[in-house]
Amino acid sequence: MSIVYYESTGTFHLYNDKISYIMMILPNGQMGQLYFGKKVHLREDYSYLLEMVSRSMTSYVFENERTLSLEHIKQEYGVYGSSDYRLPAVEILQDNGSRICDFVYRTHRIIGGKPKLEGLPATYTEKDDEAQTLILTLQDPITGVELELFYTIFSRGGILARSARFVNGGTETVHLLKAMSLCLDLPDCDYDWIQFSGAWARERHPRMRRLEQGIQSVGSMRGHSSHEHNPFLILKRPSADENQGEVIGFSLIYSGNFIAQAEVDTHDTTRVLLGIHPEWFDWKLDPGESFQTPEAVMVYSGSGLNHMSQTFHRLYRERLARGYWRDRVRPILINNWEATYFDFTEEKILKLARKAADAGIELFVLDDGWFGERSSDRAGLGDWVVNRDRLPDGIPGLASRIHEMGMKFGIWIEPEMVNKDSDLYREHPDWILTVPNRNQTHGRYQHVLDFSRKEVVDTIFQMISDILKDGSVTYVKWDMNRSITECWSAALPADRQGEVFHRYILGVYDLYERLTSTFPQVLFESCASGGGRFDPGLLYYAPQGWTSDDTDAIERLKIQYGTSFCYPVSSMGAHVSTSPNHQVGRATPLSTRANVACFGTSGYEMDLNRLSERELAEIKDQVTFMKKWRRLLQYGTFFRLKSPFDGNIASWMTVSDDRSQAIVGWYRILNSVNPPYTRMKLAGLDPDRLYKVSKDSVFLGEFYGDELMNVGLITSDACSGESPDAPDASHDFESRIYILE
Ligand code: DGJ
Repeated sequence: MSIVYYESTGTFHLYNDKISYIMMILPNGQMGQLYFGKKVHLREDYSYLLEMVSRSMTSYVFENERTLSLEHIKQEYGVYGSSDYRLPAVEILQDNGSRICDFVYRTHRIIGGKPKLEGLPATYTEKDDEAQTLILTLQDPITGVELELFYTIFSRGGILARSARFVNGGTETVHLLKAMSLCLDLPDCDYDWIQFSGAWARERHPRMRRLEQGIQSVGSMRGHSSHEHNPFLILKRPSADENQGEVIGFSLIYSGNFIAQAEVDTHDTTRVLLGIHPEWFDWKLDPGESFQTPEAVMVYSGSGLNHMSQTFHRLYRERLARGYWRDRVRPILINNWEATYFDFTEEKILKLARKAADAGIELFVLDDGWFGERSSDRAGLGDWVVNRDRLPDGIPGLASRIHEMGMKFGIWIEPEMVNKDSDLYREHPDWILTVPNRNQTHGRYQHVLDFSRKEVVDTIFQMISDILKDGSVTYVKWDMNRSITECWSAALPADRQGEVFHRYILGVYDLYERLTSTFPQVLFESCASGGGRFDPGLLYYAPQGWTSDDTDAIERLKIQYGTSFCYPVSSMGAHVSTSPNHQVGRATPLSTRANVACFGTSGYEMDLNRLSERELAEIKDQVTFMKKWRRLLQYGTFFRLKSPFDGNIASWMTVSDDRSQAIVGWYRILNSVNPPYTRMKLAGLDPDRLYKVSKDSVFLGEFYGDELMNVGLITSDACSGESPDAPDASHDFESRIYILE
């Protein structure tokens, strides 16, 4: 991997064995984008890629010259208004009302490794030779504002991380109205656009369509990355599929309002923008002040979607997630939420815990309702002190009883929120985000604390620290159950109210940073009504997230399948819950619920006391299975084989690094009668190795890797036509786990 600068032509070439990223200083001093894709040769002069031609109805940069038009030039950080008509990467409002600016090249630095982004989550290196970073310094001569563009190329994988930093080096105050993390101009528009969208309990379903002239865009203005859209976007060649073809993934390491957009212009070039949503964003930059955008990561794959996903998985698992739990297998947990909701006593909790301990479960998580006056969702949020009516000996008392059973203990918190019926709100009614004299909308009877204020974050940090400091709690589920409305802070002047959304997220990151560094061995799991903030920003602090509030195995196939396009299995919280399921009322076999949940950081969320001895024995076996295979399940190389969006069968698999072991998950949604013969082509195996294949512990035979990948694994069965009571009779929602060794 290297970054080369050719001074004679002003060309920068960033490359590793997979990709090249080439740009050059344009004749007007701005930065032009020349190429991003599969690695090409180094050459001093790539300026033939500029394609400067004279066209009608075009505006040109230089007097008496008709070739350089920003409308026709691919740029690194486009600005609107001086011959470029596409939506820009940056917009700066100046004293005289103008928004025109010209960022011209001044200097650059190339450094080993990767600098930290102050106050923001970002990918990192552990050694300087893992990556190189180019920092281009540009300047707008009129305002004096400097723009630093950061490009980090990693030695491994087709990865480029980007961000931008603004420093007001001038003498007048300016307002940053738009500051994208990434702008990429591509030379054509022959792409499918894939977004990951949905709703609460139906998150991250992939949606694909062809890019078209005009703007296609997704984003969030809810104050969190949202259930509705994920800050992740794929552009793929129409002929590309899971295993071959050109694909680019764009991911934003941010948890607040975002926009992801592609604009195809009149000449079929494509501009991709990714960053903080410019709507309601207005950052006042006084002389001497600076602003750092979040980081965006681009991954290029020349060999299909699976390879792109695997590149993201490895990067986010190893160089975004941090700390004690980064590389450790995750504990199998039981969470009491769907077992009890708010209706619990210590006795009830202990009864559930005993059953869990008997099954070999390792961690008990006490969900919502253990603090303040929290007996429903109407009261208590903000009062992070134990409710002694429920837990007479406090958290340490309950925790020690759970520890005696051989399990660790964890708690649920929702630190960013407050109920009006709470001591915290009664003491500090001005600590919520609200506009004076306006209606205060609530979500689930709760209001959002103003995390842009340090004293608010300090207070919550103190309360949570008081609970964690005796060490009895080793896991925290950090929830967040409403979107932000009436976004206004009592602590900021009128001309800084456009900063509140971003300052809020910086406050969330600050609290996460303080808690995770003070309690480094506590495992944090992020949650926002399930998957409402399942984004790379939070993975930096919490190596796993609650993927969705929907625990139905069949719905989960879709959710986990969609989520896997960007996020590793080790990041996806997945629980076995009761049947019929609480969200969709569907009855599924216990085995299928476990066979889906084991492709995640797995656990249970059901009342084990209601199960039969046979079911409890089955759970015990499942837990033994998960313990035996979780390293491979959570940290193996993951392949999507068959999409639950495309038919009745879904399948995925994971392969160990040395390709000596693999696990295949196979799921049939509805049973079919006398069905056709089927085979499933596997992936990622060693073609020359002979694998012993077993299905649900029954040995099936030995097959070479090349057979399994090219001929396929036989998956057909006679299926149905038998009495439902026959021992081998098949049913709806069946699944299988194949082990390859
Ligand atoms: C929403 C979460 O997603 C659930 O798992 C649960 O923790 C509830 N909140 C508790 O209020």
